[in-house]
Amino acid sequence: MDNKVRVNGLTFVPYLTHDKILEQVKRVASEIRRDLQDSEEPVFVCVLNGAFIFAADLIREVGLNDGKIAFVRYASYEGTSSTGHVRQLTGLTEDITGKDVVIIEDIVDTGLTAVKMVDDLKKHNPKSVKFATLLHKPESSRTGFEPDYVAFAIPPKFIIGYGLDLDGKVRNLHDIYVIEEEGE
Ligand code: IMP
Ligand code: MG
Repeated sequence: MDNKVRVNGLTFVPYLTHDKILEQVKRVASEIRRDLQDSEEPVFVCVLNGAFIFAADLIREVGLNDGKIAFVRYASYEGTSSTGHVRQLTGLTEDITGKDVVIIEDIVDTGLTAVKMVDDLKKHNPKSVKFATLLHKPESSRTGFEPDYVAFAIPPKFIIGYGLDLDGKVRNLHDIYVIEEEGE
């Protein structure tokens, strides 16, 4: 037994442990709590499917009892790369008019999904929109989009686990794994 994960013919090696992830989730949560301290009924918008585990940990750490959670669903990836075409699959499940909104995303890669999402949400006239992401790949940006809260900035390599998938699989992993380089 090794500690690699094999899925769809690809091999992944350990990258971020669950403990390390939770440390950064706590740090981001305290930043959000500080920024929302005077906010009335903020709305956290979890981007399905990838962000559901991060969102569950994050909103519990933020700990604002009058905050609400809503869900949207977008897709742009096929296999291990972005198609460059972002589709909204499910729209907002909660009214955000006049509210402070924090979008919760698993990863910002090209930034195309983030830009489209912020645009779509602003049409509902929220009071403010902030963007929290577990992971950011700044070198992959095609948009210059800068998230407000980032747990980890990482190089442009494909990763899985803690909600992130390969063709819908391996979201259940506690830790995050990175695709194995040739010769490793
Ligand atoms: P973007 O629109 O290119 O920024 O891509 C954002 C979406 O692509 C994320 O919400 C993820 O669903 C997916 N994605 C980007 N990079 C990865 C990765 O390394 N692993 C798994 N999914 C990824
Ligand atoms: Mg996503």
